[in-house]
Formats: sequence, structure tokens, C-alpha cells
Amino acid sequence: MPLVYVTRTVRFNAAHRLHNPAQSDEWNRAMFGKCNNPNWHGHNYTLEVTVAGEPDPTTGYVIDLGDLKRILNERVVDKLDHQNLNLDVDFLDGIMPSTENVAVAIWNQIVDVLPSGRLHSVRLFETEHNMAEYRGE
Ligand code: NI
Repeated sequence: MPLVYVTRTVRFNAAHRLHNPAQSDEWNRAMFGKCNNPNWHGHNYTLEVTVAGEPDPTTGYVIDLGDLKRILNERVVDKLDHQNLNLDVDFLDGIMPSTENVAVAIWNQIVDVLPSGRLHSVRLFETEHNMAEYRGE
């Protein structure tokens, strides 16, 4: 049977600040630049979630994209959209909200509600130029 990769793309807008309180203000400004702005800043994020599998012989689907849409809305988008990633999101509590760390946290939010072993990748674009990808490794 062919192995097929199916991807759903969603978007959300959120604020954040990259700041490591264990380091000096000077270190944080030098390391994070504009992303260290004390009064936050926003990004228009794009999230691509890919599920892998063999198409079901009856439906032709790897996964019902309606199910994936509902999972991503309930467990990710509704929790992140128009929120402050440092302050407002339960599953990011205590996590530095870099693109890398948010991608891993999103994986952890959805992996257990998808068919076992099917989640292939989470790709989170912070800008059109910068993206982090996590594959559960
Ligand atoms: Ni930023």
C-alpha cells in the first residue's frame, strides 16, 4: 500500500517576547533583538501539520481532514489565536516561546489524539522566511 502524507494548514496571530530572565538585559537585547522588546510584538503564524498513512480502502482517506481541522482548532488555534504566548496559554506555561519550542509544544498537544504513530511533522512558520519543523524525535 502507498504511504501518503496529508497536510492541513492553519493560521493564527499571537504576541510574544523572547527573554531569558537568567541572563542580563544586555545579553537578552543582544541575543533576541526586536524579539526582546519589553512591550511584546506580534507574528502572523502559519502552522502545517502532516499526517502519514496508507489510504483507507473504503474512504480513500489517510485521515478525515474534517477531524484534523477540529483537532487543530480545539487544541491549538483556539488556544493561541490573539493570545500572548508568554502569558495566556496553558500548554506553553514556563516555555520560552521561540518558534522551535512552540512547534514541539504543538506536537505534544495533538499527538495523543491522532491515530497512533501517524503524526509526521509540525511545521511552524513565524514569518514567511523563518520556520521550525518537529518530527517527534
Ligand atoms: Ni518574535
